Amino acid sequence: MSNKHIGILTAGGDCPGLNAAIRGIGKAAMNLYNMQVIGFYDGFRGLMENRYVRMDGNFLSGILTLGGTILGTGRDKPDKMQIGGKIMDMTDVIVENYFKHHLDCLVCLGGGGTQKNAFTLTNKGLNIITLPKTIDNDVSGTDVTFGFDTALGIAIDALDRLHSTASSHHRIIVVEIMGHNTGWLTLGAGISGGADVILIPEIPYDIEIVSESILQRKRAGKHFSIIAVAEGAISVEAAKKIEMLEERLEKAIKDNNKEEKKKLKAELKDYKSKAIGDTIELASELEKLTMIESRVTILGHLQRGGIPSAADRLLATRLGTACASFIDQGNFGIMVGAKGEGVEAVPLKDIVGKRKSVPLDHPWIKSARSVGTGLGDCMV
Ligand code: F6P
Repeated sequence: MSNKHIGILTAGGDCPGLNAAIRGIGKAAMNLYNMQVIGFYDGFRGLMENRYVRMDGNFLSGILTLGGTILGTGRDKPDKMQIGGKIMDMTDVIVENYFKHHLDCLVCLGGGGTQKNAFTLTNKGLNIITLPKTIDNDVSGTDVTFGFDTALGIAIDALDRLHSTASSHHRIIVVEIMGHNTGWLTLGAGISGGADVILIPEIPYDIEIVSESILQRKRAGKHFSIIAVAEGAISVEAAKKIEMLEERLEKAIKDNNKEEKKKLKAELKDYKSKAIGDTIELASELEKLTMIESRVTILGHLQRGGIPSAADRLLATRLGTACASFIDQGNFGIMVGAKGEGVEAVPLKDIVGKRKSVPLDHPWIKSARSVGTGLGDCMV
């Protein structure tokens, strides 16, 4: 019986499974280790503003199946918070509030950005443990993140429904799927939802090849096509231009050329915002090239809403309950990663700043190609 005091917060974009994780941490912490648990509202901002709730069994009851997060969330960073129109470093206030509550550990549930923010706080002397959540599945050091499986299910449901309408109208339907800068969600959904072409950021696409894949289907008597495109998908030309700008930026940084660095940073940002994620333009180009009518469906935040799948409830509960035991052991500065059937304590220092992209030799890519799905880089 440890009698420790712990705080929990959820940060970054919400996802299904967060409440299951809060419940897992809280119930195990109270039932097995007699810990006192409080939750901070709205991520790091709530901790900074000292807005919190004391948790008990009742508070944690009935939340397993709820989507979103009962604690609320936000994208604030401790060291860059918007306060009255200004960006301010509020790390010291956060540290002060942590100690005001006599916390033995702060548990941060979040994606890649949260791992980074949490790590910064460990450097200020706070005991931190994180859990990996995001529909993007792009957190390094874990087999999978919770939220991903539910989002996959939503995207697959959309792809299933779009098949019948695309087929009835003999259309191309381009479906934009979330995933930030990685293609896990689009690739997983595209394979399981039977998309004809899947475009992910890791594999820059050639528009001529995409249109040829559609025309090849037409010649084979298939008069519709479903294109699953990741929000971060990029054409070969755009990828080359970005690479060139990044190389020039790197050189400007090396040469300590501040003016050039500022100019290139702005140019890169502007170019990326125009060249990445324009699904409407992609669909219209495909319509012109194939002469087949096209439509666009952007799934957007639908993919983050609603009740968590069984797999996400199970994963979040596994990671949450394991988290309580790591706190009891005093194992801090770690993320509780999923490893096979079990869990692993992954040092935060080993994962911060590392994005888990889809490796080009990943079995999913091989499987997609094996069933004849185009990935926009070559004809299959
Ligand atoms: O990280 C989760 C995610 O849903 C990404 O897939 C997407 O790019 C982003 O968040 C959207 O963020 P926001 O909710 O701030 O619009």
